[in-house]
Amino acid sequence: MTEKAWGGRFQGEAIEWVDDFNASIHFDKILIDMDIASSVAHAKMLASNHIITDSEKDQIIDGLNAVLDDYNQGHLEFSTQHEDIHMNIERALISKIGDTGGKLHTARSRNDQVATDMHLYVKGRVHEMIERIESLQKTILNLAKENIHVIMPGYTHLQRAQPVLFSHHIMAYFWMLKRDKERFWDSLKRIDISPLGAGAISGTTFNIDREQTREILEFADIYQNSMDAVSDRDYIVETLSNISLVMVHLSRLSEEIIFWMSEEADFITLSDQFTTGSSMMPQKKNPDMAELIRGKSARTAGSLMSMLMLLKGLPLTYNKDMQEDKEGLFDAVTTVNGSLQIMNGMLGTMVINEKILKKTVQEDFSNATELADYLVQKGVSFRKAHEVVGKVVLKSINEGKYLKDLSLEEFKQEHERIETDVFDILDPKIVVDRRKSSGGTGTEAVLKQLDAAEKSL
Ligand code: ARG
Repeated sequence: MTEKAWGGRFQGEAIEWVDDFNASIHFDKILIDMDIASSVAHAKMLASNHIITDSEKDQIIDGLNAVLDDYNQGHLEFSTQHEDIHMNIERALISKIGDTGGKLHTARSRNDQVATDMHLYVKGRVHEMIERIESLQKTILNLAKENIHVIMPGYTHLQRAQPVLFSHHIMAYFWMLKRDKERFWDSLKRIDISPLGAGAISGTTFNIDREQTREILEFADIYQNSMDAVSDRDYIVETLSNISLVMVHLSRLSEEIIFWMSEEADFITLSDQFTTGSSMMPQKKNPDMAELIRGKSARTAGSLMSMLMLLKGLPLTYNKDMQEDKEGLFDAVTTVNGSLQIMNGMLGTMVINEKILKKTVQEDFSNATELADYLVQKGVSFRKAHEVVGKVVLKSINEGKYLKDLSLEEFKQEHERIETDVFDILDPKIVVDRRKSSGGTGTEAVLKQLDAAEKSL
C-alpha cells in the first residue's frame, strides 16, 4: 500500500478496477504543462521563503523539467495507481531526484494545485477561443463586403418577410460573435486569479508568499479566502456557458447554411471540402459539417448542465465530485475550437448563387410592406393601408401574379390613391435601399455597419 502517496494510513491491498474508477490521469494529463509551471513557481517561492534550500529548489526544478522532457518524448509512463497528473508527476520526480522530490508538496495540497492548474488552463484556452472567434468575424466581414450587392429574402417564421442584403443577414452573426468575444474577455476577471497557497482548505502554517507565486504565474490577483479558492468552480460554469452560447450561435448559422444549401432554396453552394457524399445515393452532396456543428452544440450545452448539477449540492470545500469538472470542459473547448475553425473554412469557400437569389426575391410578396408604406405616404393610415395591401396580395395569389405584374387599374380597384409611381417602389433593390434607418438593410446603412464592424476588430 505504501506505493500510494497517501499509503501510510492504509493497510488493505488496492484493487485495480477501483483505482481505475478513482483515477483521472487518462484525461487530466493534458494539464501537464500547467502542473509543471505551477510546481516550479511553488518551489521558487518555497526557496525564497527558506522553506526549502536553494539547492533543493534547483534539484526540484531540474527534475520537473526532466519529467516534462520525458513526457514530450513519449517516455513518461502514467499509472492509474497514482491517480492523477499531480501524483504521477510527483512520483516521477521522486524517482528521478529521490526524497528531495517529496519536499515539493510542502505547504501545498492537490486541492489548491488542481485549482491552479485549471485556472491556468482556462485562461489560456479563453485567449485561444477569442482569437478563433475574431478570425471567424473577419471572414464574415469579408463575405459581407464582397457581396454587398446581393439581395436575398429575409424571413420571419421562415416565411418570406422583406428582402434584405445578404451582407446584412450574415453580419448579424458578426455582432453575435462580438458579444461572445466580450463575454470571454469579461470572464477573465474571474478566471485570472490564483488559488495557490490555499492549501487543502484553510491555508498553511508555513510562511508562504502567495503574491510571489501569483506574479510568477502571471495571475492578476489572488483568492482572498482559502475555502473559496479550493472550491470555486464558477469560472468553469461561466466558461461552459460562454462556450455553449458560441455553439448556439454557430448552430443557428449552420441551420441557415443547411437551408440555403437545400435544393428547395439553392442560395449557396458549399465547397466539396466541407461536404460529404452518401454511401448509397450517388447524387448526394450533404452539409455534414454544418449538421455536426448543430449537433455538437447539444453536447456543449449538456456539459454546462452537468457542471451546474455537479455543484448544486456540494458543501465546502473540496469534494471528489469536482474531478468531474474536467472532461466536459476539455471536450467543450475542443468542440468549440473545432467548430469555429470549420465554420470559418465553410464560409470562406462557399459560393453565393446570385442568379437564383435575384430570381427568388422577384418572385414573392416581400415587397408588400413597401406598398403599405407607399399608401401611408399618400396619407392613408398604416392600419388601413395594411388591410388594402392584404387584399391586393390575396387577389394576386388567386390570379397567380406578383405585385409587379398587376396593372394600375387592378391596383386602383383596391385604393384610388395608388398611382403609376407605385411601379417605382416594388423592385427589391429599391425596397432594400429605402431602408436607410440606422442598423437597417439599405446599402447606405449597411456600409456604415461594415465600417463600425471593421473598427470594432
Ligand atoms: N484529481 C483531482 C481532481 O481533479 C485532484 C484533486 C484531488 N484532491 C483530493 N483531495 N482528492 O479533482
